[in-house]
Amino acid sequence: MNDQLLKIHQKLLAKAEMLKKTSINDLFGRDPERAERFFLSIDNSLAYDFSRERIDQEAIDLLLELYHYQECPNKLDDLFSGKHVNYSENRPSLHTLLRDVFDKNISDSLSEKRNLVANELKKIKAFTEAFRGGKILGINGKPLKEILVIGIGGSYLGNKLLYESLEDSLNNFKLSFLTEPNDKEFESVTSDLDLEETLVIVISKSFTTKETLLIGNRIREKLQNAFGEDAVKHHFVGISSNTAGLDAFGIAKDRQFYFWDWVGGRYSIWSSVGLPISLVLGYEAIEGFLEGGSALDNNIQSTGPISALPVIHALIGFWNHHYLDMNSHLVLTYPKEIKSIVEYNQQLVMESNGKALPESSPYKSSVQIIWGGPGVESQHSFYQALHQSNLRSSIEFVSSVAESDFSFFNFSNLAAQLQTLTDGNELTEDRKIIGDKAHTLILLSQISPFNLGAYLALQEHSTYIKSLLLGINAFDQFGVETGKVIADNFLKDKKVNVSEKFRHLEFFKKNN
Ligand code: F6P
Repeated sequence: MNDQLLKIHQKLLAKAEMLKKTSINDLFGRDPERAERFFLSIDNSLAYDFSRERIDQEAIDLLLELYHYQECPNKLDDLFSGKHVNYSENRPSLHTLLRDVFDKNISDSLSEKRNLVANELKKIKAFTEAFRGGKILGINGKPLKEILVIGIGGSYLGNKLLYESLEDSLNNFKLSFLTEPNDKEFESVTSDLDLEETLVIVISKSFTTKETLLIGNRIREKLQNAFGEDAVKHHFVGISSNTAGLDAFGIAKDRQFYFWDWVGGRYSIWSSVGLPISLVLGYEAIEGFLEGGSALDNNIQSTGPISALPVIHALIGFWNHHYLDMNSHLVLTYPKEIKSIVEYNQQLVMESNGKALPESSPYKSSVQIIWGGPGVESQHSFYQALHQSNLRSSIEFVSSVAESDFSFFNFSNLAAQLQTLTDGNELTEDRKIIGDKAHTLILLSQISPFNLGAYLALQEHSTYIKSLLLGINAFDQFGVETGKVIADNFLKDKKVNVSEKFRHLEFFKKNN
């Protein structure tokens, strides 16, 4: 570590030692404006309250020094302008471009790519209108109404989150998912579908993911057995960056949607991967979602770091992890329909930043464990440990209120938890809750496509900034790929060939 970096790091360590001994209520006492100042919002849609984090302005200023020392502003520009920020694979990571197609007059080095994106959006819009207008017909001439999505990881989690969050009971269209090969799930999901009216959407960036292809092949077989060879043409859509893979599977050309190798799988919900949401909720949902993401891009590009939400979010996350020693990050959602934010963040953060640190790094680990769940249910599960144990986790509440009794119930519970975590109580020793547990609150004005877009883009930029502060590449995933290759070898040989060390793998098989 060079001298300047060492100096900043040491100042941060010293500051952390002081703040570890300072309660959140003391921080409020010292700075009566704190609630106002440690709060940021954008477009009346997303608000970020970090006033109950264990941090003060001096610590934020030191973190900003680190941010500038690591040249984060330039590296953010590199992301937006298509430089090869995914340096191990020598390509850009241009998910931001997917939501930057509204101003058609921009002419820059990204114009060609922007046109590709705009073209896919046009295709999505046209297909959505035809589908929702009952004009996409199955092999027997019936309009397709049910949708089965097959995909995993980034080819699944975004659609799942958006569908669960935004679906409403008045919807005419049903969406179900298959992710990992599982006999029980396959039977239960497919037996609920009327295959004659089902559109199967296979999503895979690589179109080589075995999980996805195995399920895709099985459902293709089922459809062909029921309706003949031609069923594939009528009942399948494919979304991929691998055109040859789509062709080989038999997906008709006019049912193919594309994205590109410069869009990472876990950043791909902004691409044609979002087609299922457009079909079920209407094209406006996708447009709103992209606009929400774009609003966050504008926020980080046009606001100074001190008031850019993703910058402050990243710096506080970094502070909690590396200086206050919080090795996990808990995400709690009120209301329940946005609960899959936890899984989404798990992939986004842990697949992006779960990397080996540079040898010279002063930090112990590159990524916090992301965990969590729906707030009220979690209150009856692991909250006890939050309140009375010495568990070390940073906490992020994500919430929104609607006007209903149930919603008010959830909101009251959220408020009660925030108060207990901050103030504790003064009861007898075994009932006593110390409180003083730092946390963040992110409020969405409502659960809408725009706001979810803004929230996910906030998490993406925050993750990227943390990777820059650590000196790691947020955009490759060689760890996951190694597992895929080894499993492929076993599949090829139809045999799990392992060394003596793993002899118990087949324990029950041998005993039978
Ligand atoms: O989990 C690794 C990964 O490569 C993810 O990044 C990706 O979202 C997922 O597998 C699925 O890959 P694909 O979209 O190529 O099927």
